[in-house]
Amino acid sequence: MADNILNYSLADFHYNDNADVLSPPDDFNEWINNPKVKEVFSFFEQELLDAPRVSTEILSNLDGKKRHIINLTSYNYLGLSTHPEVIQAAVEAVQKYGLSSSGAPLLSGTLDIHTELASKIAAFKQKEDCLLYSSGFGGNVGAIQGIMRKGDFLVMDEKCHRSLVDGGTLSGAKMLFFAHNDMDSLQMMLEKCKGKRVLVVVEGVYSMDGDLAKMPEIVEICEQYKAGIYIDEAHSTLMFGENGRGVAEHFGVEDKVGITFGTMSKSFGGVGGFVCANKSLIKYLKGYSSPWNFSCAPSPAVSGGLIKALEVATRDSSLRDKMWENTRFMKKSLLAMNLDLGDTESQVIPIIIGASGEKLLKYAAGMQTRGLFLQPVDFPAVPAHARRFRMSVSSQLTQAEMDETLNIIEDVIVKGEKS
Ligand SMILES: Cc1ncc(COP(=O)(O)O)c(C=O)c1O
Repeated sequence: MADNILNYSLADFHYNDNADVLSPPDDFNEWINNPKVKEVFSFFEQELLDAPRVSTEILSNLDGKKRHIINLTSYNYLGLSTHPEVIQAAVEAVQKYGLSSSGAPLLSGTLDIHTELASKIAAFKQKEDCLLYSSGFGGNVGAIQGIMRKGDFLVMDEKCHRSLVDGGTLSGAKMLFFAHNDMDSLQMMLEKCKGKRVLVVVEGVYSMDGDLAKMPEIVEICEQYKAGIYIDEAHSTLMFGENGRGVAEHFGVEDKVGITFGTMSKSFGGVGGFVCANKSLIKYLKGYSSPWNFSCAPSPAVSGGLIKALEVATRDSSLRDKMWENTRFMKKSLLAMNLDLGDTESQVIPIIIGASGEKLLKYAAGMQTRGLFLQPVDFPAVPAHARRFRMSVSSQLTQAEMDETLNIIEDVIVKGEKS
């Protein structure tokens, strides 16, 4: 292993044959403690010393120093996590209700602000009802696991988020994956489960690529095969559609989508997840969705803040408009540098570097040293031939910050590729 240590990744150590069940595999220990691998991991878990704003401060693992940075890695797309009205609402909620809801929603954890938030989210999403979860991950796991059973079929886009896949595994349903956004492949998979109970699962905006699910075609094919549709709008809620309801609204197919999921940790600036559907399905989910009925209800501070965040984001479109203005500028400027942005159509902009993990890390360090926090995304999170940086554009970005970002990217990545 010593010669080619960087050719290994977390994908290689999943199975563990160590006789001591409480110890990782021996070769994992050798790998993770190797100085070259330690250097790779030093990019991760760097501490933010201030809020996840665009302009913030980190404790850099590169040299152990505090550094002011332009942060294009956080998901705070609309800046709501630090919006003064949102913070005020969160403070008022924590003062009134304390730190915790201190119970699962079914027994004692449901506060009046949870009911208010859920009904406001349902009204916003134009669905009959809504279930709140303490995490987005738990929401996807809980909804899929709560609905699907052994003998059922889940047909998922191959780029679906881990939470959707884990929910599928837990449910016991058979999982089939279709090639990303490939309608022939979707149709082929649906042929394999004709006559069964089938749920097709897609993301509105794909989280590592920024492209959109081809909803009009997906809806047409699903209708043909009588398959239900589940859309994860984690990165598209408050971003897409005339009213910000997401990619299903953008394509005018909301009434064809049975279940719409969203997370509170992206554009809402909070934490948690929500699942919207018709009343009877939500009632059924309450009985069978373990992360809902066996886990503490969302924290009062976050719930109070989220009611305000929804109000701020939807009372007019100014934050979304600014985010789109910034996205258009960044995308146009990055394309003018001949960078590979894949098929992005959203505020999630990948800068695809290719197969070289060493280049990826060299560029990440170069950008961080210059004050740009754009984190590398390596295999197995993305394909080994398409390692990348994944930029999250925010409404908070000023023109000066965008210009500085572009200068740094040009100096580090564009010049690096030419040298
Ligand atoms: C598409 C998608 N779904 C679900 C989640 C999970 O959401 P959370 O981080 O809020 O738990 C994520 C998180 O990155 C995501 O990208």
